[in-house]
Amino acid sequence: MKIGIANDHAAYDYKVKLAAHLKRMGHEVVDFGTDSTVSVDYSDFAHPLADAVERGKVDAGIAMCGTGNGMAMTLNHHRGIRAGLAWNSEIGRLVKAHNNANVLVMPARFISLRMAMRIADTWIETPFDGGRHARRIAKIPVK
Ligand code: RB5
Repeated sequence: MKIGIANDHAAYDYKVKLAAHLKRMGHEVVDFGTDSTVSVDYSDFAHPLADAVERGKVDAGIAMCGTGNGMAMTLNHHRGIRAGLAWNSEIGRLVKAHNNANVLVMPARFISLRMAMRIADTWIETPFDGGRHARRIAKIPVK
């Protein structure tokens, strides 16, 4: 898969190691920054990732900040984005199987790096269940 990654300063170290892990697993990684631990605003990095997912420039996205909430809130303002927060691998499975999240969001300050890798692998490998979940997803956008 071609996976876009965005992060703020709180998740920079995790981003570097997760991107290397994803490449080892055979994925192409497009890095939307930030590229250091200098304090930044997560929204400046979430919007370009969301645009890339919406335009099909990447197959899916992974976003990380301290809690994950700033990234998730920003990403979900985009009509074509379903950004889901996951903090263990079972939620990583469900956020794809049930919610078909096209951006996985993780809270770098509250999970281990090993867990972040497990969650990402699980989310990538899990297919969307469809069926009743597709009906529910279709009702998410504001009419
Ligand atoms: C940065 O200190 C922190 O606020 C940010 O990483 C994130 O947790 C916001 O939602």
